[in-house]
Amino acid sequence: MLYWLQQSSASYPPLAAGQPPPGLLHPEEMAEFTRLRTPRRRRDWLLGRWTAKHLLQRVLADGEGRYPALSRIVIANERGGAPYARLADGYRHTGCRLPYCLSISHTGHRGFCAVSLEPALFVGVDIERVVARPAAAWEDLLSPAERNFAQRVIAGEQDIYLTLFWSVKEAVFKALRLNGRAVPQAISCEPLLPARPHDWNPLGIDLDPTLITSAPTAGTYRAWWRVDDNYVLTLAIWSRAQGMSLTDDLLLAC
Ligand SMILES: CC(C)(COP(=O)(O)OP(=O)(O)OC[C@H]1O[C@@H](n2cnc3c(N)ncnc32)[C@H](O)[C@@H]1OP(=O)(O)O)[C@@H](O)C(=O)NCCC(=O)NCCS
Repeated sequence: MLYWLQQSSASYPPLAAGQPPPGLLHPEEMAEFTRLRTPRRRRDWLLGRWTAKHLLQRVLADGEGRYPALSRIVIANERGGAPYARLADGYRHTGCRLPYCLSISHTGHRGFCAVSLEPALFVGVDIERVVARPAAAWEDLLSPAERNFAQRVIAGEQDIYLTLFWSVKEAVFKALRLNGRAVPQAISCEPLLPARPHDWNPLGIDLDPTLITSAPTAGTYRAWWRVDDNYVLTLAIWSRAQGMSLTDDLLLAC
């Protein structure tokens, strides 16, 4: 099962000013928060924690009948940046790691997170605001199939699809837990038409393993995308098992 949640800073306006809501952070997280240098990073980081903690709180309540305080759900990052969650026993004890796979994305005033209850089903999410950019600015980032697709869609939809192509690369990058940078053409997607942009739409994912040599990539992939206001949301999953059945009903809103 995969649960996802999108939140806007409008759900708690001081978030937009980088002010932590009372009761959100564990002391360990508060110490990390105070080390963040720029106002923008503080705002993004907080919005990601706000969204991820609400998502995990609901998942724990629905699945296990537990309803921990938000400050007990501690979000930390692996060395490479991938997030994970722990459930703290108290203010001093860091507690045990939750057996879930978590992914976080934040942009401007939106946070988007997903959690897979199956730790071997790796999840990656991304949210990007749709902005007009000349097609030439994207050309180097697209695979030949994506370039071909972008030329065929009507002009009014090009910005959405170009944003989608970039976003899904980031989502797959996160699902694979890659570090550093990857060659953008290594990850290619093919949207299925006709799309219903305000629902989740499936995406075919192609990976060129010769362009990603830093980590294992074999397995089964699936991704989805949707548009909300002027944002593209993408969610990718990866299982190391070959030929695994990854169907649309895995996706559950929280
Ligand atoms: C790491 C990266 C994917 C983050 O994406 P972003 O658009 O800058 O920012 P987002 O808000 O969407 O995501 C940030 C979150 O991703 C998570 N993250 C960071 N590194 C990660 C990694 N290696 N794997 C999984 N998740 C990661 C973190 O939770 C982070 O938020 P936090 O630091 O507040 O906890 C991006 O900065 C990056 O380096 N991308 C690689 C560039 C590239 O080669 N792109 C082509 C893809 S083929």
